[in-house]
Amino acid sequence: MPGSRITALGHHQPEHVLTNDDLARTVDTSDDWIRRRTGIATRRIARTESVTDLAAAAAGKALAAAGIDPADVDLVQVATCSAIDRCPSIAAQVAGRLGIPAAAAFDVNNGCAGFSTVLATADHAIRAGAARHALVVGAEKMSDLTDWTDRSTCVLLGDGAGAAVLSADGDGDEHVGPVVWGSDPTLGDAVRILGEWHPTFAQDGQTVFRWATSAIAPLARLACERAGVAPADLGAIVTHQANLRIIEAIARQLDVPGVPVADDVVESGNTSAASIPLAFAKLVARGGIRPGSPVLLLGFGGGLSWAGQVVTCP
Ligand code: ACO
Repeated sequence: MPGSRITALGHHQPEHVLTNDDLARTVDTSDDWIRRRTGIATRRIARTESVTDLAAAAAGKALAAAGIDPADVDLVQVATCSAIDRCPSIAAQVAGRLGIPAAAAFDVNNGCAGFSTVLATADHAIRAGAARHALVVGAEKMSDLTDWTDRSTCVLLGDGAGAAVLSADGDGDEHVGPVVWGSDPTLGDAVRILGEWHPTFAQDGQTVFRWATSAIAPLARLACERAGVAPADLGAIVTHQANLRIIEAIARQLDVPGVPVADDVVESGNTSAASIPLAFAKLVARGGIRPGSPVLLLGFGGGLSWAGQVVTCP
């Protein structure tokens, strides 16, 4: 049974940069507070682009970089929790925009764990023979869900998208490792996007913080163990980008001082399901990960849920 591997990545962020000082002009906050508590310096905000625009831009770049014919893509999955469109799905719209004629196309909402979730299900589809090439995307317009009068959340969120092309690979090595995924419904109320016509993002920040800084490092170790990779041998760690303090706490617990750890939250804020492919693609584009090295991806958030795996860097 062939496995799959990531052959190309792509990312897209809207033009508009919103700084901490910009936010301090509209709510009672400061650059100092936001940097100290979250690490975030800037975030990108989509003024005119939709989730579909962001997703299609990132996916188009990944597809072009992979160099495959759109007609050969059998599966398109978009992870998003901010899409307003219910039908057609964002994935179906992306397929239409990119000239992908007949792929299975659907969206998945698993909050900030969404990208590793679609990566796993696309890998499973390829292993099962249901697809040869898959396009997986994380895309969010969190600014649509932001309460711009709530200083405890509006400073955190940003917009963007990242994408990967996944292709069947029969070289015998495992290039998308076994997924570690799950959820804890007892903490389900800790992150919420609720409201009938204009849902807004809310969370119990400290509950999520405590959970993320205690539950996630053991899951990271488990994903490495299942992939047969020692954490110290990773080429990079790309976790969900919610808060630099959380990312640093996870890295400290893993005790991997020489391993690059993605910190795109500093310039992009929290882009939910987009954060992992965005941070991964940007780090690769900057030459921050050795091609062919094992990279740990690990998403966590609303649900509360998590999903992660070790992949080979394209
Ligand atoms: N500027 C200034 N003061 C603020 C701000 C702000 N932007 N926001 C809150 N405060 C104040 C609060 O009112 C509070 O004041 P008080 O002590 O007078 O009541 C004080 O700062 C401390 O507030 P806390 O909420 O305790 O601040 P904390 O240090 O916990 O940081 C944060 C908040 C950044 C949200 C943190 O809890 C966190 O990152 N949690 C995890 C979030 C997460 O990982 N979510 C992931 C899932 S959801 C998703 O990713 C889409």
